[in-house]
Amino acid sequence: MSTRVAVVTGSNKGIGLAIVRALCQQFQGDVYVTARDSGRGQAAVESLASEGHKSMFHQLDIDDLDSITTAATYFRDKYGGVDVLVNNAGIAFKEASTDPFDVQAEVTLKTNFFATRDMLTHFMPLVKPGGRVVNVSSFVGSRTLNKCSPALQERLRSEDLTEDELVGLMQSFVQLTKKAEHKAGGWPETAYGVSKTGLTALSMILARRLSKERPGDQILLNACCPGWVRTDMAGSKAPKSPDEGAVTPVYLSLLAPGATQPQGKFVSDKEVQPW
Ligand SMILES: NC(=O)c1ccc[n+]([C@@H]2O[C@H](COP(=O)([O-])OP(=O)(O)OC[C@H]3O[C@@H](n4cnc5c(N)ncnc54)[C@H](OP(=O)(O)O)[C@@H]3O)[C@@H](O)[C@H]2O)c1
Repeated sequence: MSTRVAVVTGSNKGIGLAIVRALCQQFQGDVYVTARDSGRGQAAVESLASEGHKSMFHQLDIDDLDSITTAATYFRDKYGGVDVLVNNAGIAFKEASTDPFDVQAEVTLKTNFFATRDMLTHFMPLVKPGGRVVNVSSFVGSRTLNKCSPALQERLRSEDLTEDELVGLMQSFVQLTKKAEHKAGGWPETAYGVSKTGLTALSMILARRLSKERPGDQILLNACCPGWVRTDMAGSKAPKSPDEGAVTPVYLSLLAPGATQPQGKFVSDKEVQPW
């Protein structure tokens, strides 16, 4: 049997690095730091090594399709696929940012929704039977859903929402911001929130598809919130350490073989949350 492998995106720092640290301790197999910048990624591997943890590195910029396909080919050829994939990479503009809202919308949706979707498009076929896929979303995505118009809420919660329809909704949000018409279109004023609403909804769609298309493979795919965590993104006032923020993503990464739940859920503090 080939060596098992876990891959964490955006893991040169913050919650992603803490997820790798925990997987090094708890996952039987190779654990990969991935980062868009090789220097920052290698530095993370070295800092983990100084703590006694053995990790490996592969470059992966989720905004770059070539980088995604190169990494996917590497994991397919070396390991025959992946056992654990954690889509953790994400961005957020600072509240004080003076960038126009439409720019924030385009840039934020590009990484948090569209690039994470590209990762899923190219890596889902590589996920081995019994695999675990974890999308690091946010409770902000759930709060944002509750602030959408009733019509949008109905579609985003619907069991028959398709990936194409969701992509269309996310594109239309970005387009509407360019004309400052997003509020009239039923969206609240938060690019980060909409990107995470989209990521949680996408997770639910892909889990439904797994049940239909690969019913015997026992792959579990969920979205989660790490909590409010002290990182460069969230700042120093947040209550959780990165290691504490890693707890729920790691729990979902290591759901026991044969487990059937949670599947296609939004999970926080190891508990399924309402959507
Ligand atoms: N912190 C919180 O309170 C909180 C709460 C809810 C959800 N989250 C989510 O948790 C995840 C991790 O956040 P964090 O707080 O650890 O933030 P962070 O410290 O800013 O780390 C973000 C990581 O994502 C990487 N990244 C960004 N764009 C990328 C790209 N195109 N390709 C590859 N990697 C990329 C960053 O790489 P660089 O170093 O190269 O920039 C960095 O490694 C995010 O998805 C975030 O939305 C965080």
